[in-house]
Amino acid sequence: MFKKLAWFTILIVILGSVAILVKPYLGTSEWEAKSGGEVIKLPEPRLRGEMSVEEAIARRRSIRTYKDEPLTIEELSQLLWAAQGITDERRKFRAAPSAGATYPFEVYVVVGKVMGLKPGVYLYNPFEHSLILVREGNFMQDLEEAALNQKWVGNAAINIVLVAYYERTTSVYGERGIRYVHMEAGHIGQNIYLQATSLGLGTVAVGAFHDDVVADILGTDGHPLYIFPVGRV
Ligand SMILES: Cc1cc2nc3c(=O)[nH]c(=O)nc-3n(C[C@H](O)[C@H](O)[C@H](O)COP(=O)(O)O)c2cc1C
Repeated sequence: MFKKLAWFTILIVILGSVAILVKPYLGTSEWEAKSGGEVIKLPEPRLRGEMSVEEAIARRRSIRTYKDEPLTIEELSQLLWAAQGITDERRKFRAAPSAGATYPFEVYVVVGKVMGLKPGVYLYNPFEHSLILVREGNFMQDLEEAALNQKWVGNAAINIVLVAYYERTTSVYGERGIRYVHMEAGHIGQNIYLQATSLGLGTVAVGAFHDDVVADILGTDGHPLYIFPVGRV
């Protein structure tokens, strides 16, 4: 009996250690902290589109003029999946590459006009492919002002904001992790560009904004690095 108990204890200690070692690779998440908010399950992303990857690369352009029309929830689902969706369920790897699979980004969406979704600030949960409502209200104009009055930010249907948590990557790679985080932002951004192009939507990478004001709008203690307004063209 005592021997059985000892083995059981050893097993628990081993499993605990493995969980601690593996956790950074699963990506500790801000959505866990904000999990009290209303949860919106997104429709399943599709894996076949209307456009080849070659055509999407050839057609990709920064687009700053959008129609005053809402996006569908399917389009939003597809964009978020392309940004950070889980594409390897077993290992929880995501659509964009990440140094050591440390996944330093949280994806926020500032929603202005999406059918069936109230305007507000949402956080994407890649593990559930869902959104958590962080703040209700229309913050598109506030975001435009924070982005040095770039009017495409305010006129878009949504803005996808990439928020970095450097320590997830620097805890593994030290100082060098900083450049890895910036490289990863590029990978995620290009996925958003190509997915938007393939859906017939327009986007532009926006790097010019007041970091602290954007962080306040989102209610995050992470570092906003990139904003992608998206709208119908
Ligand atoms: C890091 C980075 C930051 C950018 N910041 C802005 C920005 O703040 N506002 C903007 O309108 N475009 C911004 N752009 C988009 C560029 O102006 C655009 O990519 C460039 O003019 C080339 O056009 P193309 O994307 O259509 O090929 C940025 C692009 C990158 C890569």
